[in-house]
Amino acid sequence: MNPLLVDTPSAGYNIYFAGGFSGLPGVLKNWGFEKICVISDSNVSKLYLEEVKALIGPNTYGYVFEAGERNKNLDTARLIYEFLINNCFDRKSLLIALGGGVTGDLVGFVAATYMRGISYAQAPTTLLAQIDSSVGGKTGVDFLGNKNLIGAFYQPKFVYTNINALKTLDKRQFASGMAEVIKHGLIMGKPYYEFIIENKEKINALDFDILQSLIFKSCEIKKSIVRQDEKESGLREILNFGHTFGHAFETLSGFQLTHGHSVAIGMVCSAYYALQNNYINEDEYASIINILKYFGLYGFNNNFNEEEIISQMYLDKKTKNNVISIITLKGIGGALIVKPSRQELSLCINRGLTELGV
Ligand SMILES: NC(=O)c1ccc[n+]([C@@H]2O[C@H](COP(=O)([O-])OP(=O)(O)OC[C@H]3O[C@@H](n4cnc5c(N)ncnc54)[C@H](O)[C@@H]3O)[C@@H](O)[C@H]2O)c1
Ligand SMILES: [Zn+2]
Repeated sequence: MNPLLVDTPSAGYNIYFAGGFSGLPGVLKNWGFEKICVISDSNVSKLYLEEVKALIGPNTYGYVFEAGERNKNLDTARLIYEFLINNCFDRKSLLIALGGGVTGDLVGFVAATYMRGISYAQAPTTLLAQIDSSVGGKTGVDFLGNKNLIGAFYQPKFVYTNINALKTLDKRQFASGMAEVIKHGLIMGKPYYEFIIENKEKINALDFDILQSLIFKSCEIKKSIVRQDEKESGLREILNFGHTFGHAFETLSGFQLTHGHSVAIGMVCSAYYALQNNYINEDEYASIINILKYFGLYGFNNNFNEEEIISQMYLDKKTKNNVISIITLKGIGGALIVKPSRQELSLCINRGLTELGV
């Protein structure tokens, strides 16, 4: 499959789609970096780090940090800076983020800030990273309990996506990525949404050709939004469909809910608003719930309290002057920004939680 060119105002780069890591040296040959460090978390490194290092060449460095969102922070960044300094990495070097969104965000941030910016590439290994976090150049770390508070917009030199890496990913993480895939269909393309529904069995069985089309299409959708609004001043906000509610569920679950699962509940909350306002019909609303459930995005034991959820939403950085903006649907494939009242929010939350058995 041909690479996808992501051309933003600040930079352009290719996303390569492959069935293994063996094509990576061929891509690197075009660049001629003097020194390369592959950075990975403690889970992904066990599976792929040695293979990738060996493919790139004998002088490739490897760095491993402890897996998990809680390590996407300045302490881990500092340890990586130290490693880079001790091994004389400079502006002619390249960092490769081999892993999920945590690795990509962290390594991108280190690359953006070390020596005022060195080159980096992404080799995303979760579905979420392959279709979402590796496209668009948002990098960052969490700080004082705030997600992605410290960060930079910084584009990679290229993205190398090994679709077969998804074979070792656990079901829960795959489902988390599927929530974002479904989001792309819901906000940006009815035909794509229908493609997902028609091919759901093959997607679930990790059929290579279908996954390749799916990942390509999702990257294309995210790219089309990002290139029009690289620094998130308007259009890019529609990617937050399901997220204003979702972030509240994610935080209040103490991050026990995956990001995608939280967003899935949030999407049903937002879709219910669309249903109430006749932007979508009953059948469309039901199809959204069914497809999310099909991918396992339902059920969770919780003691969520509606007041707490709403308060948490008011804390969200997208809240201005005490008014919450959410993205809702304008038909399947279209998005709209609305400002629901507190009472409407409460109705949406109740429905979202009930429909997905939370
Ligand atoms: N930059 C952006 O635009 C953007 C967009 C969305 C999300 N994000 C960020 O992405 C992060 C979430 O990403 P994620 O869901 O990929 O989480 P993650 O990187 O923590 O990966 C999830 C888990 O899967 C494991 N894993 C990864 N690839 C694997 C594989 N192929 N086989 C087996 N295990 C594997 C990881 O070790 C980890 O335990 C969050 O920090 C979020 O803020 C960023
Ligand atoms: Zn998301």
